Amino acid sequence: MCGIIGYQSQNKEAFDKLDEGLKRLEYRGYDSFGFATISEGNLLVEKKIGKVSTSSIKPLPGKIGIGHTRWATHGKVTEKNTHPHKDCAGRLAVVHNGIIENFQELKKDLILKEHIFLGETDTEIIAHSIEEFLKIGYNLKQAVIGTGNLLKGRNAFVVLDSTTNKMIAFRNGSPLIIGIKESEIFLASDIQAFLHETNEVMYIDDNEIVVINGGIEFFNLKNGEKIEKRRIKIDLDSNVFEKGDYKDYMLKEIMEQKETLAKAINQDAQKILHVAQEINNAKNVFFIGCGTAARVAHTAEYVFSMVADRQVNFIPASEFENYKHFLLPETLVIAISQSGETADVLEALNVAKEKKSRIISITNSPESTIAKMADFPFLINAGPERAVASTKATTAQIALVILLAYACTGELIEGDKVLLDVAGKVNDMLNPRYKEHIKALAEKIFKKENAFIIGRGINYPMALESAIKIMEVSYINSQGFAGGELKHGPIALIEENTPVIALVSEGKTKEEIISNAIEVKSRGAYIVGVSPENNEVFDYWIKVPEVDEVASSLVNLIPMQLLSYYLGKFRGHDVDCPRSLAKSVTVK
Ligand code: G6P
Repeated sequence: MCGIIGYQSQNKEAFDKLDEGLKRLEYRGYDSFGFATISEGNLLVEKKIGKVSTSSIKPLPGKIGIGHTRWATHGKVTEKNTHPHKDCAGRLAVVHNGIIENFQELKKDLILKEHIFLGETDTEIIAHSIEEFLKIGYNLKQAVIGTGNLLKGRNAFVVLDSTTNKMIAFRNGSPLIIGIKESEIFLASDIQAFLHETNEVMYIDDNEIVVINGGIEFFNLKNGEKIEKRRIKIDLDSNVFEKGDYKDYMLKEIMEQKETLAKAINQDAQKILHVAQEINNAKNVFFIGCGTAARVAHTAEYVFSMVADRQVNFIPASEFENYKHFLLPETLVIAISQSGETADVLEALNVAKEKKSRIISITNSPESTIAKMADFPFLINAGPERAVASTKATTAQIALVILLAYACTGELIEGDKVLLDVAGKVNDMLNPRYKEHIKALAEKIFKKENAFIIGRGINYPMALESAIKIMEVSYINSQGFAGGELKHGPIALIEENTPVIALVSEGKTKEEIISNAIEVKSRGAYIVGVSPENNEVFDYWIKVPEVDEVASSLVNLIPMQLLSYYLGKFRGHDVDCPRSLAKSVTVK
């Protein structure tokens, strides 16, 4: 959420590097973007509303600079609120990711000291606060430390100073990483911004600042002392971030599920068994997550009940604090997060840490803050997911949860077998004819303004997730319900030809969900059945492979991801960057 880029070189121009890096960070926010460079001692700033990948900006000269792509939190999408922000004197430029929770108080104080604010963002206070510290005689490093220590909340910022030709980065809660390529220095919210240039990195940890001035020096925010850091080579090929032959990342990522399920369950058996023992021994277990990851956490309740006869609880991470008093040292908190950086999950894990509960993470990013906070970090190995709407990470997370549940019953090998069978079936399912069949359905229903998805048992959280997917990408008002709930209110919204999609699995819920479909069909609904077998109630049938009931969550979700994709395309939307959303939500 908001992407930061910085660059310095002795002999190369900064602008193209900043521009290219920012394009690769666009998934973090795409409301507006801007750059600042220093050329011959002058601070130059250019900003624009819109997406960096589709709008052009006048290249700025200079060998040092910063850039930012914004996801608006404080203040509307206007040029005034677009980063970088300057101080009153126009000496400094600042880009920021996060929310300064005490910004109103800090702003009032700075206004009293006669600082002039141009927009409504919380970010502007950083530039003015550094300026204020400089005024009273601090040097730049001290002024950044002074300001960093004033900020409440999860934040990262970079300040560019035209007087000293330095760039200083601050991190406390929002990600930032450094890349080094001979004499070129990169700074970014995510390695994706510069991996095409270098795989040599230095990690910035929380409560640290980094001074970049030809060299790279780390300092502790609390006492200003110097910190020694190692350079690390990351084993990641930048091609994994490319679209390849696909038009959109979303379709590429959906199709990658041909391989990602098998990769997700390819885990160290000893570690799985150890964690399974922790789950079995825990007094209580909470699965937490946000958005789509919350739907996976919800699915975990069904998976553990069905496979391991074990009660686990699902709580949306943003609500977790309300359950604080149930947390014990013998409690296990299992955090699900693709990015591993979601602010609400981090806040929940801080609560768990306070209570000394044990933490397991299921993320797609080894160096993420959430993975680092966990006692046992699991990686789903799905490869980078760029489209905002999560697809391959979701099914990989579900597969790993299913594997863990099997391990809890002492049947890890059986779990592996079941899931490998599913992975093979998904591989067969994702063929061109299948895509065409779903595309044809999307063409029939894309003009509808409402859609309902129903499921029972494990397909209930899948109905909720399918609704999120359709909503995110096509902006159709789609809602998911437990099959039995439809007649307790939502049925009033069913009109002639309203699409109702029933997620069916072979098992005990099959007959009931078909009955629910019949109930709404008699009110005029257009029934789409996602099911291994056709049924006379279906107006349109999407065949899915016949699998174990617990694994129906995986095979039923994949066609819904494809349907969302095609609905978004037919409605003319940018499916990779849906309006108002961002991939990595690093603010509460
Ligand atoms: C945002 C994204 C969702 C994602 C959620 C959680 O809301 O738009 O697609 O599911 O964040 O992200 P995480 O990285 O924690 O899985």
